[in-house]
Amino acid sequence: MGRVSGKVAFVTGAARGQGRSHAVRLAEEGADIIAVDLCANLDSIGYPLAAPEDLDETARLVEKTGQAVVTAQADVRDAGQLRAALDSGLAEFGRLDIVVAQAGVAGMKGAPPLQAWCDVINTNLVGTINAIQVALPHLGSGASIIATGSTAALMDTAKKDNPGADPGGMAYIHSKRGIAHYVHDLATELAPLGIRANAIHPTNTNTPMLQSEPMYRSFRPDLENPTRADAEPVFGVQQAMRIPYVEPADISNAVLWLASDEARYVTGMQLRVDAGGYLKWYDYQQ
Ligand SMILES: NC(=O)c1ccc[n+]([C@@H]2O[C@H](COP(=O)([O-])OP(=O)(O)OC[C@H]3O[C@@H](n4cnc5c(N)ncnc54)[C@H](O)[C@@H]3O)[C@@H](O)[C@H]2O)c1
Repeated sequence: MGRVSGKVAFVTGAARGQGRSHAVRLAEEGADIIAVDLCANLDSIGYPLAAPEDLDETARLVEKTGQAVVTAQADVRDAGQLRAALDSGLAEFGRLDIVVAQAGVAGMKGAPPLQAWCDVINTNLVGTINAIQVALPHLGSGASIIATGSTAALMDTAKKDNPGADPGGMAYIHSKRGIAHYVHDLATELAPLGIRANAIHPTNTNTPMLQSEPMYRSFRPDLENPTRADAEPVFGVQQAMRIPYVEPADISNAVLWLASDEARYVTGMQLRVDAGGYLKWYDYQQ
């Protein structure tokens, strides 16, 4: 208990999935939470995003831990909306110590190609950078920034032999690679100030993004209308350990550690929580 006691965390994409899990886990360990989510759908994304009631539920779960929460519906693609959301939290709590920039969407085949490219890049890459940039002026020594990438950032899965076939999917890979690179350079610049920045790269994680029709189709392109039962046996291809996916709590535990003073000298990390997925792709690298 109390591993982030007295700290305040700004979490994007907090209405459900990993974001909700991070918000609640950080609150369980003593942080107050500023929870932000779009709470609306995007036309180019072929599965529903969170609803306003989902963000309310996150707030309820945070309050259940005894910590305080400020929620805001805001679009990470719009730095102005994010700044206003953060300001409402700062007015309540008066400080900021932890940034968990993790709102994201998965682009999939079949979406209007240019729109999918724009929405995925603008949410995953620009939106992650927006969340960090609006927070930076409020951070001081001891603060911790955590951005969510994906093992997609680390795997050479770009479809170079099939240009234009899946711009949303390619945008996803590019956005996560961009996050990895941005965090590396950001951590370098912030280290002398005592502020840390790390990226977490999850493998398949058991959230509504993974448990969605477009994702089932991408794992089972051989079937017209694949179901969860069809996709589940194939999910394991992403990991070396024999599991279909990790749980949001597995990522939250990494977030909590990086957010806490236990990781006070850990910065610039590309931390994989991937059940060994990377090991299937690469030999040892210095
Ligand atoms: N689920 C996986 O298998 C997996 C694997 C690797 C990485 N990730 C990454 O983890 C992060 C969290 O995803 P998740 O798995 O919890 O999925 P999710 O769809 O359950 O949650 C994503 C949340 O982000 C919100 N969001 C989307 N666009 C937004 C915007 N423009 N502004 C504000 N909020 C927005 C959604 O409403 C939703 O609540 C994402 O960055 C995703 O790319 C997921």
